[in-house]
Formats: sequence, structure tokens, C-alpha cells
Amino acid sequence: MTPHQTHLLTVHDLSREVMQSIFREAAQLKAMRRRALPTQRLSGKTLGLFFEKPSTRTRVSFETGMNQLGGQSLFLSVSDIQMRRGESISDTAKVLSRYLDGLVIRSYEHHTVEEWARNATIPVINGLTDLHHPCQVLADLFTVREKKRWLKGVKIAYVGDGNNVANSLLEGAAIMGMAISVACPSGYEPDASIVDWARERAHRTGAAIEILRDPFVAVKGADVLYTDVWTSMGQEKEQARRVKVLNPYQLNERLLASAKPDAIVMHCLPAHRGQEITTAVLDGPHSVILDQAENRLHVQKAILIRLLKDR
Ligand code: CP
Ligand code: NVA
Repeated sequence: MTPHQTHLLTVHDLSREVMQSIFREAAQLKAMRRRALPTQRLSGKTLGLFFEKPSTRTRVSFETGMNQLGGQSLFLSVSDIQMRRGESISDTAKVLSRYLDGLVIRSYEHHTVEEWARNATIPVINGLTDLHHPCQVLADLFTVREKKRWLKGVKIAYVGDGNNVANSLLEGAAIMGMAISVACPSGYEPDASIVDWARERAHRTGAAIEILRDPFVAVKGADVLYTDVWTSMGQEKEQARRVKVLNPYQLNERLLASAKPDAIVMHCLPAHRGQEITTAVLDGPHSVILDQAENRLHVQKAILIRLLKDR
């Protein structure tokens, strides 16, 4: 997302400088919200949201964020628009671009969101695909920065399924010069080309990227422990096998005790308590999950201003 770039499809679209500027803006917006100071920076703008999968946080934080910036949002339900009747992405994207000022898309295959972006003449924001979840990870890194004061050199241990969130975390950590250790079972690793990209970028930024099997090795010296569901949206048929294979990767008190004493616990939510994380850890003193969820709002407002304001 350079000054002339219109879309936000992956974390690797962003430079370190752009990410830092989003974080600075988000911190200001958060402070303003705390003081109930109004802002009308997106007055007259309309954001459309087209989601093929369910959502609580992404939808509500984008819709309320747009509202708080003086603009409005329009949720385009899969069952209401004409795409189910065969209207193409390209025609829909071109038409919607004549009405709207930006679009958030949540879909399955990542190339779907790329197709929206190729055809739209307005900014397209990836609200989650099977491969990436950039808005989540920008809010996550903003949260780590708030809690640990900076990002460079901070160690994240991600345990569990190497999914969309893990992929975007790898990209974010590589760009920001962090250490990230992902512990996952064989066959559940993050996307191989994303790992290669992160390793390559790490040479330049001083980041450290590790993909391991043993969760106890991964959390050693970690400042941040992160996990996500074992069965992502769209993988429901694999649930029984996933629960079995991923069982040794549960984020529980024993694993937490092996991290740094002041480690924070993160989860993008929704969580499956008793599967990838225990209730004791999710609701315990190390958990920052509600601040993390709140920060989706502030960070996405900063993204919306950056992409929509001067169009
Ligand atoms: N974390 C996240 O994206 O949540 P939703 O699926 O509720 O939007
Ligand atoms: N990995 C999860 C994230 C949900 C926000 C999924 O894709 O379902």
C-alpha cells in the first residue's frame, strides 16, 4: 500500500514504513475515541462489504469504523445480490465501483479477492481469505506494539494450525524484524511460498523465522503466544481428524508456563474453548484478546482513511 496503491490484499503489500504510519494513525484514532472526539474524515463515502463467510468482528468493526468516520457502510448479503444467479465478479465489481468508495471482501480462495481487485476501480480490502487475514494481523501487531512498546526483536510463538492467520503473521513479523516460531504438526504448516517469502525478507530486516514441530520449543523465550482455531471456515468436513492431529498443540497453562513470565496470550477469535486454547488461559491474566479485538476497529479506521480519503 504505497501512496498510489489502492488495495490491501495481503500484509506483504505493505512496507515497514506504511505499517508504522498506520499504527501511528490508529493510536491517534484510539485516543480520540477514548475522549469521544468526533471526526468526519470519510464524510460522504460509502464502504461496501461482501462476505461469503460469516463474521462478527470484521463486519462490525468495519461498519462501525466507517460510521465513526462520518461515512456509511452497506452490507451486501450473498443471498441478496445477483451473484448467486450467475452475475460475474468482474461485472459486479465494475458496477459497484460506480456507487461505492471502497469494498471489503471475505471469500474462500485468495484469487477471488484478487479478481475483485483487478476489476474494481475502487480500493478492495481483504477481509479474510483461506490464505491471508491482513486486517487481523495489522491489528495484532498494533496490539503487540501497545503491550510490549515496540515490535523489533519481540518473539511470537504461534502454535496450532498453519492457517491464514499464521501466514499473515509470518509476513508481518518478517517485515517488522520480529522473531516468529510456528509449531504445527506435519501437513499443517503455513503456506510454503509464504514461508519462503518471509525467510527471504527476514535477511533484510533481521527477523527470525522458525517452523517447528514441538510447541514447547517454540514458546521458549516467547513474548507473545498466539493460537487460532484448528478448523477454519470451509474445513468443517476435516474437523474430526484435525482435532485429533492438533490436540498436542493446545495452548494451556503448562505451555504458557514455558514462555516468558510476562508473555501475552493472543487469539484472533472466535475461539473454541477446550480445543486450541483452554478457558483458563483465554480468560487468564496473560490474555489480551479483548484489546486485540477492539484494536481491529482503530487499525481498520486508519486503513480506511489511508485508502479512501483522497479518492
Ligand atoms: N477475527 C475475525 O476475523 O473474526 P470474525 O470472523 O468474527 O470477523
Ligand atoms: N482461521 C480462521 C480465522 C477466523 C477469523 C478461519 O479462517 O476460519
